[in-house]
Amino acid sequence: MFGRERIEYKTPEQVLLMRRAGLVVAEALAAVRERAVPGVTTGQLDAVAAEVIGDHDAKASFLGYHGYPATLCVSVNDEVVHGIPGPRVLEAGDVVSIDCGAIVEGWHGDSAITVVLDGAAPDDVDLAATTERAMWSGIAALAGAERLGAVGEAVEDVVDAAEEAGLNGGARYGLVEEYVGHGIGTAMHQPPDVPNFRSRDRGPRVRPGLCVAVEPMIVRGQRFTQILDDDWTVVTSDGSRASHWEHTVAVLEDGIWVLTAADGGVEQLGALGVTVAPLG
Ligand code: MF3
Ligand code: CO
Repeated sequence: MFGRERIEYKTPEQVLLMRRAGLVVAEALAAVRERAVPGVTTGQLDAVAAEVIGDHDAKASFLGYHGYPATLCVSVNDEVVHGIPGPRVLEAGDVVSIDCGAIVEGWHGDSAITVVLDGAAPDDVDLAATTERAMWSGIAALAGAERLGAVGEAVEDVVDAAEEAGLNGGARYGLVEEYVGHGIGTAMHQPPDVPNFRSRDRGPRVRPGLCVAVEPMIVRGQRFTQILDDDWTVVTSDGSRASHWEHTVAVLEDGIWVLTAADGGVEQLGALGVTVAPLG
């Protein structure tokens, strides 16, 4: 479930380098979010992110990764993750998941947001909000957790609570299982896996130096996915809409730190009763 390969624990100095990468990603996503409106192409959004990353003399993590051709992944509506930016024109009401990674001095940051364009169905707005809440709850769980499995438990609890509250028109959400969060550091994807669901395997111990990307993917229908002929774009099998949120998080001696959040996660985690580590 979690994999049992060696984990790269980071020193506080290394976490500070990852923080620099994280802030570049945060700035790129903020710029892209501003530009994500009807009439803009996903390729134009990619150019915005590439410019911000270039301005900081950082490198895009995704570009060239197993041959991936762009800076961002932009996944629209039934696309879950790994949508390739291009000529597609965004329309009112679209649900747009935007994923960005950057490298500074060899250290990676990775984060994703979902932007719901004006005119969207209320249930689609709820989908993105539920997914974001699930991500923050998963991150908050890391703060006090003994084992990494606490993240998936917290994510699944949020989905259960949302369903019980009658969101999604009273229907079940789907929690995607084929793609999971991951360790991150000198590579974008490292051990351990960070599943978004409950498992009997409690996972590796959470200890200082652990850096992971927490990234739930939630869909309005069934959780099953397929990959399009471009060999990248992951879509829901039933055509239902999807949301993806992601942050890179460091576990430190005195707490956690959200490296790809401009404020380190202070506001969102504070609302969940979690104090952010006072580093940097
Ligand atoms: N943020 C995505 C992930 O975590 C990255 C996909 S990158 C790509 O895992 F290069 F494969 F597109
Ligand atoms: Co990731």
